[in-house]
Amino acid sequence: MLWQHVLRVPRSWLIAHDDEPIAPEHLRAYRQLEARRLAGEPMAYLLATREFMGRDFHVSPAVLIPRPETELLVETAVELLQGRAVADVLDLGTGSGAIAVSIALACPQARVVATDLSPEALAVARGNAQALGARVEFHQGYWYQALPLGKVFDLIVSNPPYIPMDDPHLTQGDLRFEPEMALSDGHDGLGAYRDIAAGAPAHLRSGGNLYVEHGWNQAVAVCGLLAQAGFRAVHSLPDLAGILRISGGRL
Ligand SMILES: C[S@@+](CC[C@H](N)C(=O)[O-])C[C@H]1O[C@@H](n2cnc3c(N)ncnc32)[C@H](O)[C@@H]1O
Repeated sequence: MLWQHVLRVPRSWLIAHDDEPIAPEHLRAYRQLEARRLAGEPMAYLLATREFMGRDFHVSPAVLIPRPETELLVETAVELLQGRAVADVLDLGTGSGAIAVSIALACPQARVVATDLSPEALAVARGNAQALGARVEFHQGYWYQALPLGKVFDLIVSNPPYIPMDDPHLTQGDLRFEPEMALSDGHDGLGAYRDIAAGAPAHLRSGGNLYVEHGWNQAVAVCGLLAQAGFRAVHSLPDLAGILRISGGRL
């Protein structure tokens, strides 16, 4: 993958040209990437791209690397939106824009708004929306405070930071290189859900839905917060590994 990136060639070219001499500048570029990889930097940051829902999203260290399990949140949203003439959709904490852009492309009738606290992340998301031809409106700010006053939605989705601050995984593997504010709320991992659930009734139309992604052991706690905020038919759905990965309900 690193050689493909440096030489800008497909894998088949590498296989067919395995006796091709390598130019010194290409070798230098490869060695630099190799050193970063050996230091643990994720491939997605080295290549500046990650596939999500069959599309290539630009990523930088300003954004979380989109995860395959998040596709469940997109699929659930798309299923809900199918057959609706128009719908207002909000993605809170959009990062690379993976969720918002994927929903906008799958449901052209949806009016998708996406927010993030990080201006750097929003710049990446805007770039992805433009490159992939998705119509998404972006706002910067703290959860709902980013939104124009009085704006309401039919569906809210979010994959917020949910790792508790004392989780040892934060100091291991890829997570060491991802933005802290994309990973943890700096407390017990449920802070974002408290804010998102509590603010939802003021930003959802009657009958509107909210779905959030969460950690492997947070389904019960998140469902509790949603029920407390007045959501009905609260339930969780498993990802492909059988782990309860998203929870949601209807207002
Ligand atoms: C887990 S990442 C998810 C990124 C993207 N939605 C995805 O699924 O790949 C959480 C995102 O929430 C943003 N975020 C963290 N705290 C926030 C807050 N208080 N208000 C808005 N966005 C926030 C982070 O900057 C980060 O982009």
